Amino acid sequence: MKKGLFITFEGADGCGKTTQLNLLCQYLQSKGLDVLLTREPGAKGLGEKIREILLNYDGEVSDRCESFLFLADRAQHIDKIIIPAINSNKIVLCDRHTDSTVAYQGYGRGLDIEQINRLNNIATNGLKPDLTFVFDIDIETSMKRVGDSKDRMESSGKDFFNRVRNGYLDLAKKEPSRIKVINSNRSIDEIHKDVIKIIENYIF
Ligand code: TYD
Repeated sequence: MKKGLFITFEGADGCGKTTQLNLLCQYLQSKGLDVLLTREPGAKGLGEKIREILLNYDGEVSDRCESFLFLADRAQHIDKIIIPAINSNKIVLCDRHTDSTVAYQGYGRGLDIEQINRLNNIATNGLKPDLTFVFDIDIETSMKRVGDSKDRMESSGKDFFNRVRNGYLDLAKKEPSRIKVINSNRSIDEIHKDVIKIIENYIF
């Protein structure tokens, strides 16, 4: 059995990845595995302050500044939380990571993707997820799930949503062995079963 895995959960807003992350956590813990649940932006400490700015600041934020705030949060998260957990053989389940910046700031906001890849690499010190789930949903499902109380990122509109979604699908085509796309316009249980099928090849 492998230990010290790094697994990321990705997808456009409202895709249900946090529910799936919690279900997978319960499943792995029921098998006696040591799991760390964490998220970006804003796992804890300084990260929570950066998250507050990113999601709630109501003044103007330039696209490049937004990217650097996500990247600053990531560098802190990698150094202080993710690397120590992997080094102590935990299975790290992370709600959003590098692919979010490529999908949202790259495909969504239109920033240069090669440049984002380089900056991501600096922020992570070269660490890559072992496995990434992309929970793919259409705009109608997303709108139903997100509802009316939207944060700054969720207020970016339909075209933005579709660019982000297509960004994730493109990324998955480029890295099929790391990134697994799961049709998430289905029930929580059906999606969870797909997650388990994939995870069993990695862990057991
Ligand atoms: P959050 O409330 O954590 O939403 P979700 O449950 O959808 O993950 O908000 C995070 C928002 O930040 C989400 O809209 C995606 C966005 N984001 C980026 O734009 N770039 C990034 O690098 C990251 C990590 C998140």
